[in-house]
Amino acid sequence: MQSVYLDYNSTTPTDPDVVEAMLPYLREQWANPSSAHNPGNQVRRAIDRAREQVATLIGAAEPSEIIFTSGATESNNTAILSAIETLGAHASVITSPTEHAAVIGPVQWLEQRGQSVKWISVDENGQPDLEEVTSALKESPAALASFMWANNETGVLSPIEQLAEAAAEADAMFHTDAVQMAGKMPLSVKELPIHMLSLSAHKLCGPKGVGALYLRKGTRMKPFLRGGHQERARRAGTENVPAIIGFGKACEIAQKTMEQESSRVERLRNRLEEGILSSCKGAQLHGGGAQRLPNTLNIGFQQLDGEAILYMLDDQNVSVSTGSACESGSLEASHVLKAMGVERTYVNGAIRFSLGKYSADQDVDTVLERLPAIIDRCRSLAPQIKDES
Ligand SMILES: Cc1ncc(COP(=O)(O)O)c(C=O)c1O
Repeated sequence: MQSVYLDYNSTTPTDPDVVEAMLPYLREQWANPSSAHNPGNQVRRAIDRAREQVATLIGAAEPSEIIFTSGATESNNTAILSAIETLGAHASVITSPTEHAAVIGPVQWLEQRGQSVKWISVDENGQPDLEEVTSALKESPAALASFMWANNETGVLSPIEQLAEAAAEADAMFHTDAVQMAGKMPLSVKELPIHMLSLSAHKLCGPKGVGALYLRKGTRMKPFLRGGHQERARRAGTENVPAIIGFGKACEIAQKTMEQESSRVERLRNRLEEGILSSCKGAQLHGGGAQRLPNTLNIGFQQLDGEAILYMLDDQNVSVSTGSACESGSLEASHVLKAMGVERTYVNGAIRFSLGKYSADQDVDTVLERLPAIIDRCRSLAPQIKDES
């Protein structure tokens, strides 16, 4: 049975050219980039090339603005905790409830320790209320505003330009989690007043366990990991060299192919969306009223259990993700859909389909062949779930 992978927002297959680029740094060029000898210098130069490749993808003014990390979870933690350490105990964090757990976690941790946090409401598409942001900024003597560029569950884009400019007007710091945006749509960080931006390699066909924090030149920062001079003393620890090289290569490939790929993937996503909405009873699109990533589709199936749909699809070799299983593996309903005000009867039955580089028309055909029967079967098995919304 043909298998179909539509969970690219969780992680992506590693591009074979990325693997090839990494191999020499596992086999031959294993020297420590901090060593003063020749082999060490060669590895350090390779890291600097990767830094340029990452900087180019996001339009950073200088490669030195890129700090390699272990992934976006570390980048987000570093950005938020560093900003608060530099701004001081009186500073506020301004963010939204639809952020990824890697932002919500550190923000809640700060809140529990007495830091002021302003959670901004979002509209039915999950976009933050700009007026609320502006007044929260006005009320805060010092602030960090942190808003994701694209939502991982719905693909909805935030109005980053307006948010960053509002923060700049209030003299606040601005951070964005651009994990789902980078490599899928063009972005140029130097054109916006963004101080910090988080990236992860495994969302753009690079390896897992590596990411980056963009730190605009001149932005004050306190390292999250201390105890070494690596990354200009902004992130201690011997670099994950093969992964960094792979990340750089993945950025270079994304840069070259993004324009063509995004329209190809968008056409597939739209075909899948139309097909599901027209062939499955009680299906509702989430986030469709806003600009979205070209690859993401979030659909709620009324009165059904998303987990049951996921496992039935899995049984037929189709990999998707629910909108409800949160990162901790608990069966909590999606915090993103709840914040958007989606009715509970749809939140529980939400499925995220996320496409990517190796997705093809055949994958869409397969899902459209298999899903309607699964939905019918779930409906015949499901106890009538009461609408609690
Ligand atoms: C929006 C967003 N931010 C952060 C992360 C965490 O990234 P990493 O796996 O590199 O820690 C993810 C991954 O799921 C994500 O989708």
